[in-house]
Amino acid sequence: MCGIVGIVGTRPVAPLIVDALKRLEYRGYDSAGVATVEQGVLDRRRAEGKLVNLQERLDSSPLSGTIGIGHTRWATHGAPIEVNAHPHFSSGVAVVHNGIIENFRELRKNLEADGFEFSSQTDTEVVAHLVEKGLRDGLSPEDAAHQAIQQLRGAFALAVMFDSDDNLIVAARSGPPLAIGHGEGEMYLGSDAVALAPFTNRITYLEDGDWAIIRRNDLAIFDTSGQTVSRQQQTSVGSALMVDKGNHRHFMIKEIYEQPEVIGHTLANYVDFNAEKIALRDMGDTQNPLEFSKLDRLNITACGTAYLAGYLSKYWFERYARLPVDIDVASEFRYREVPLSENGLSLFISQSGETADTLAGLKYCEESGQRLAAIVNVRESTIARSSHNVFPTLAGPEIGVASTKAFTCQLSVLASLAIGAGVQRGHIDEAQEKELVRALAETPRYANEVLKLEDEIKELAHSLANKEHVLYLGRDTNYPLAMEGALKLKELSYIHAEAYAAGELKHGPIALVDEEMPIVVIAPHDRIFEKTVSNMQEVAARGGNIILITDPKGAAEVGMDEAKVIVMPEMPEIITPIVYSLPIQMLAYHTAVHMGTDVDQPRNLAKSVTVE
Ligand code: M6R
Repeated sequence: MCGIVGIVGTRPVAPLIVDALKRLEYRGYDSAGVATVEQGVLDRRRAEGKLVNLQERLDSSPLSGTIGIGHTRWATHGAPIEVNAHPHFSSGVAVVHNGIIENFRELRKNLEADGFEFSSQTDTEVVAHLVEKGLRDGLSPEDAAHQAIQQLRGAFALAVMFDSDDNLIVAARSGPPLAIGHGEGEMYLGSDAVALAPFTNRITYLEDGDWAIIRRNDLAIFDTSGQTVSRQQQTSVGSALMVDKGNHRHFMIKEIYEQPEVIGHTLANYVDFNAEKIALRDMGDTQNPLEFSKLDRLNITACGTAYLAGYLSKYWFERYARLPVDIDVASEFRYREVPLSENGLSLFISQSGETADTLAGLKYCEESGQRLAAIVNVRESTIARSSHNVFPTLAGPEIGVASTKAFTCQLSVLASLAIGAGVQRGHIDEAQEKELVRALAETPRYANEVLKLEDEIKELAHSLANKEHVLYLGRDTNYPLAMEGALKLKELSYIHAEAYAAGELKHGPIALVDEEMPIVVIAPHDRIFEKTVSNMQEVAARGGNIILITDPKGAAEVGMDEAKVIVMPEMPEIITPIVYSLPIQMLAYHTAVHMGTDVDQPRNLAKSVTVE
């Protein structure tokens, strides 16, 4: 998704802005640009594609100036070409914007009728012209920006800069987040605190509907009614962490390897390993703790991989806590007019905590008076700040667009919550709790062991490369995991992949199977192993090429002739989905690397999807 950076500084800012934009690369983008003001002159450089192209432009034609704004653009309105790249200008006004301005057509028509000429197909350019129009009408730059912002409908974050004032950026937030960084005689603006990490960790987040006047030594924030408001300054945790690949070729594989550690950190937040008890640490309203025993329904909403973590946890909550669960993708939930139970809990799962659809689902539940809980990786995110109960994942910044460690950390939190719910609701006794907690405690160790299978998995991945279609099969918790496997393969390698509940195959999808079709079967040797294997044999009989992910018992039963087998260590059932996530992630990763796709920033994808 688009990234915004702004600096009102005391030193040349263009290189600093490019550095900060690099830290936003993980969000996904297809063009970039930077603009500065120097001695009353506004100038910009823009380039299609990656930031190296912008850097080349700046090397051959540098920009001076101690105030500037920059942008990485993920195209929504207009192709990803240079004329559509931000910043957009209107005479002495420059604008960068993230999100969508829904009424831009109508605004554009009016502006064109007033004689404004458009040089791009973007929705953003209307903002620059609206501000310019305000200036022409005699408004101050601040008022011109504000009156323009008031005319916009949609979800957006934006920054406006003027050639007439080299000590002013006006910023506004209506949806996507904006962080303001406090420096020594300098102020910064960014889509998140990670972008501002090289400059400061003192951050003020704008609330939804806020707009701000930012100067070197001054910050004024106003709410929707135009009243000055004070927003708390906080020390960002995320910003202290450096974002680099270490010795790894891609962020994704680095993040896969981080999993034993971050799963351990996350579990330690929710489990007392000494007492062998669940000890849920809620970072939300501690005066108002979550009581699972009082709930009659759990309603989970999320998108993409986070949705699949939620889907998988449905099996856990229903099995261990006898708590009925509804699970929806947020983009469907928000318009479905779902009747919500009075004693229900609405749980939102999101790595970024800023996903627009998930946030809209949360607003719907908030308006219905539901208790809101969140599982997020970014603690300062909007979803976390809007929820009563907050259960962070401690995955650290996830930079690869394909979610890996955030997923297994979400599962770790969800497993802890489900066991905790089971205890509170009287469906898990002390001995069972101890046994389940002991199992959770072993997750990092098993995850570590599985990482050692990388070379083997890499070889198997080569057999998937360049295939047209791949099927993933699983039953029970391995069904959502199969969906996650298919999603990972699709997004990274662009191979068409689908997941089916193994038992559903014979009701239609088996027609797709021929000797060209690889089928990944996820089947630890559990209660329903036999059933899954029968489905697998139906596929084998039709020539399908099977990759089976199982444990030594499963491998012994199936025999190595029927399938290529990834032999996982034998482990307790509750943790299999967490640990079995690793081979499916590595399978997708190595297939993509072999095919030469852009693993960390797959085409058309964004890390944090802050538009509908
Ligand atoms: O930040 P979120 O967890 O809310 O993001 C949700 C999805 O956009 C995300 O999981 C997406 O599906 C990933 N690219 C999957 O790898």
